[in-house]
Amino acid sequence: MKHDTVLITGASSGLGRSLALTLARPGRRLFLGGRNRDRLTETARLCISRGAAADIRLCDVTDRNGMEDWVHSAGPLDMVLACAGITGGTRRATAPDGAPYEPDAQARRMFATNVEGVLNTVLPALHVMQGQPRAADGLRGRICAISSVAGIVSYPGTPSYSASKAAVDRFMVATGGNMKQAGILLTSVVCGFLNTPMVAGNHFPMPGLTDVDNASRRILRGLRRNERRIVFPRWLVAGSRFMDLLPIRLAEAYYTNQPTGAAGSMPEPDLS
Ligand SMILES: NC(=O)c1ccc[n+]([C@@H]2O[C@H](COP(=O)([O-])OP(=O)(O)OC[C@H]3O[C@@H](n4cnc5c(N)ncnc54)[C@H](OP(=O)(O)O)[C@@H]3O)[C@@H](O)[C@H]2O)c1
Repeated sequence: MKHDTVLITGASSGLGRSLALTLARPGRRLFLGGRNRDRLTETARLCISRGAAADIRLCDVTDRNGMEDWVHSAGPLDMVLACAGITGGTRRATAPDGAPYEPDAQARRMFATNVEGVLNTVLPALHVMQGQPRAADGLRGRICAISSVAGIVSYPGTPSYSASKAAVDRFMVATGGNMKQAGILLTSVVCGFLNTPMVAGNHFPMPGLTDVDNASRRILRGLRRNERRIVFPRWLVAGSRFMDLLPIRLAEAYYTNQPTGAAGSMPEPDLS
């Protein structure tokens, strides 16, 4: 698999940083994006210490023009990994008989970051790759976006996160069907909990919690095998698919009684 030039969003933390470090080696050039300068610089430093060339870009994935400019200026690109994302759960109602709720600003930010942010990464990457010659394996490039097992179900504890990740998965898999002919592999990652800062403040047990470096290796192996959807842990994804086949009242009764679904059990995302 040719991946001499790789662009990664969300490279300042968690999975994006781990993928960057796993890929870092002499002869490889990494374009690393994020908003936090210190953490992004640290990722670049670690990649350079492993022999890779690393360029950082401070960029918000919701900034369409900024992302277009970055992706076009970085190209040609062998691989793009869209990792930037946020999560957040419902809050406890303030009124005694009130329902758990998700603030409007959180729902909108979730869609802006997780859905528009992926579009702002993937669409310019498609344009750049369409202008590139095919490599020996017939591919012009690979683009991978991180969805989630939460995207398979209508999870009451994280409504916008579930919906945004469902959109990412459907967009990547459906568009990938068309892009095959153009020699561009589009891949969606449907994974369970990873031990990253994103989930470090969760107040509930996380079934199937996966080490982030193992997750990175699993994702890169899947990309080498040209997988269109990379799925792990399989038992959790299979169980979630089953839950989604149940009548809503049954699935909801189960999820709302899980500690993972409880309002206020996740840290509030930074919406500043
Ligand atoms: N951890 C899990 O259990 C889990 C499970 C399934 C899927 N995922 C998905 O995996 C991906 C990586 O998450 P993670 O666990 O590595 O979380 P993380 O450690 O919190 O990292 C999130 C990354 O996204 C970046 N980011 C967030 N908003 C951004 C914005 N508006 N513009 C640019 N960058 C932004 C952050 O960078 P800055 O702060 O520097 O901007 C950071 O590098 C996400 O898409 C997440 O939804 C995670």
